[in-house]
Amino acid sequence: MRVPVNRENGWLGLGPAVFFLVLLHIAALLFWVPSILRRAFRVARPRLPPPRVLRSALIHGDPAHTPPPHASVLLEETVRAFEGLRVRTLLDCTLGAGGHSAALAAAHPELERIVGIDLDPTALELAGARLQGLGFRLVRVPGLGEAGGAEERVGEDASLDAGPSCGTCHLSEGPYSELSSVLRACGVSSGSVDAVLLDAGMSSMQVDSPSRGFSFRHPTAPLDMRMGPRTGSLNAAQFLARSSQARLEEVFRLYGQIPHARALAERVAWTRATAPIETVGDFLRVVGGRRERGRSHPATRAFQALRIAVNDELRRLEEALWAALRALRPGGRLAIISFHSLEDGVVKRAFRAAAGALGGGMGRSAGRCAAGNG
Ligand SMILES: C[S@@+](CC[C@H](N)C(=O)[O-])C[C@H]1O[C@@H](n2cnc3c(N)ncnc32)[C@H](O)[C@@H]1O
Repeated sequence: MRVPVNRENGWLGLGPAVFFLVLLHIAALLFWVPSILRRAFRVARPRLPPPRVLRSALIHGDPAHTPPPHASVLLEETVRAFEGLRVRTLLDCTLGAGGHSAALAAAHPELERIVGIDLDPTALELAGARLQGLGFRLVRVPGLGEAGGAEERVGEDASLDAGPSCGTCHLSEGPYSELSSVLRACGVSSGSVDAVLLDAGMSSMQVDSPSRGFSFRHPTAPLDMRMGPRTGSLNAAQFLARSSQARLEEVFRLYGQIPHARALAERVAWTRATAPIETVGDFLRVVGGRRERGRSHPATRAFQALRIAVNDELRRLEEALWAALRALRPGGRLAIISFHSLEDGVVKRAFRAAAGALGGGMGRSAGRCAAGNG
């Protein structure tokens, strides 16, 4: 390099060039060294946005204002239910879109493992992507009926992502009443889970779907109402076609608390003798009635009854509660979000029975339980 030499001041002409070289070195130190250090000491958990932004993102969607596919109910109350607890293993019995699990992961940096169960494979996919975005490594738990099923411990080959992670999220498609087998398959021993969450019912993704048959807003949808393909053998249309009139009356009375359950069961029997009840619109016509301003749709209870029967919701809920209590470690906590009074009744009866079975010491020996209505 030719250095400009000032004839009068000799080597003083080097000043600007030296100054430029020093600046270049400082810039290199500022920009390259931190990135080299970061790569050398990479932390497992990706840096999360500040808690306020994160909370808002979890509740309202990401910062680009994409609404979440399902707005988790009682989100803050749920996080508060586990406050002060060391949560290394979380069992989310109803993973849904993963909103509650994501919020709990943000609130508990010590979280190492989430076991997420859902009957709905679409929900599992969404939740998986969301939790992977928070740094969790996904592992799919083979279904109970599949080869190498849930009784077999999940191997690394089932992993969906081999990148660096802050923990593992096991995804299991199936009913939460099978949670003990799922935990075994994930290598989680009974009596060792720190926190269990069960947010009963359906998600808004399911209700809003124009093809699942959960809502009378979609009259052309097939009358399916199953939470997922592993729900059971019959969909809602098949249930209406194959159940005895007495069974239908029982379902409408017990699960829908419909005063005229017998008349409705008779109408179903009479209608199906002439034409199959196959779509949401078909069933709406059988139920009859018009929505009055400010009141719920007259078909709401009939739809609820049918959905509970098709998904065997109350029996599965009761089984899951007992299994969840067995899964908890001493001092662990179980939180249930119920949607309607029937679920609420099942939860409260199970809690009372469990407290009795443990000599009133559920708070100390089996863990703390909290129930809330969504
Ligand atoms: C209210 S949503 C859960 C939402 C979730 N907590 C969230 O924050 O996104 C209920 C979920 O439970 C699932 N579900 C309902 N009954 C189930 C059962 N018996 N076993 C497993 N999953 C069930 C539904 O498919 C649905 O995705």
